[in-house]
Amino acid sequence: MVQSVKLTNFISDEERPGGRVRVDCLHEIHFQDAVNIKKMRENTVDLVITSPPYWSIKDYGREEQLGFNDTLNEYMRKLREIFGACIRALKPNSKLCINIGDQFLRASTPPKKVYQIIPLHAMLINNLLTAFGDDIVYLGTIYWNKVTRSKTSGGGQIMGSYPFPKSGYFFINREFIALFRKLGRVKPKDKPDPILKQASRMTLPEWREFFKDTWKIPPAPQDTHMAMFPEAIPLRLIKMYSIVGNTILDPFTGSGTTNRMAGLLGRSSIGYEIGFETKDGTPWKKLLKKKIEVENQQIPFTIEEGRGKKKTRHEALLDVRNSYSYP
Ligand SMILES: C[S@@+](CC[C@H](N)C(=O)[O-])C[C@H]1O[C@@H](n2cnc3c(N)ncnc32)[C@H](O)[C@@H]1O
Repeated sequence: MVQSVKLTNFISDEERPGGRVRVDCLHEIHFQDAVNIKKMRENTVDLVITSPPYWSIKDYGREEQLGFNDTLNEYMRKLREIFGACIRALKPNSKLCINIGDQFLRASTPPKKVYQIIPLHAMLINNLLTAFGDDIVYLGTIYWNKVTRSKTSGGGQIMGSYPFPKSGYFFINREFIALFRKLGRVKPKDKPDPILKQASRMTLPEWREFFKDTWKIPPAPQDTHMAMFPEAIPLRLIKMYSIVGNTILDPFTGSGTTNRMAGLLGRSSIGYEIGFETKDGTPWKKLLKKKIEVENQQIPFTIEEGRGKKKTRHEALLDVRNSYSYP
């Protein structure tokens, strides 16, 4: 089953009659296992942004969920299969951005029963490059510093043999965003319309901040879905790696954060989600729809960066969402 939400964005353009360019954005959520991305047409998506389900620590409440009941090998195999399908669906020169954290295992966890970190991000990068090295290259990793003092997926703040050496363990307060580019020649039909390219321009402060290799962003309050990433993450990646009017795919769409930000930025989106338990009991499909639809209608874009000009609602939104992280 597919749920579609159609939204329209306008770009102001003084050179065009009427002064506005209309951008219709379609947001399609497939209530299906992400493995079905295999059925999508090849070379049709402009960007993939996602955070896959955690391995073994979070139960999203569905039997068919990836990760919770899987061994590490199964988890990696399933991710490889789904990301292989995403790579196939991507257009050449388009990017695959995967937010993933490493995982802490307690000293009580069999079979080794010794404290350890499972380097999931490194394993995934290695896995994808080994399997799809002819199709993709690795562009590096953004370190997401979660700016929090509370417990994260890495355990408590003081761990191990405190106050004595030699077995203290890190307070893990970081996740990773691994970046890949699909190889191949860009087809002439995929070259962006100059007006849409202009509308996608980033400001200098945005460029400087977004292309840092470390992002300081507080985690999202987990008030509805249990593992949402903050809006600033898809917002930045969408601005960095796509053009207004492009289509963004999230294979593990969750509450729809990627789709929502795609809509706010004048991009279309496709999501896959098998369902999850919500924190407040709202039916998950309803929550998703509400999140994608809200505020999304008729967001004006401007192609001028106005010194002294009044900010559009879009620019004001960007300011609000990023003000804590700008230099
Ligand atoms: C880490 S959450 C994504 C959260 C999302 N980024 C957000 O901000 O709301 C991972 C999601 O993947 C979903 N999921 C688990 N296995 C799946 C599968 N095989 N296909 C599609 N979705 C799946 C879970 O239900 C969960 O909602």
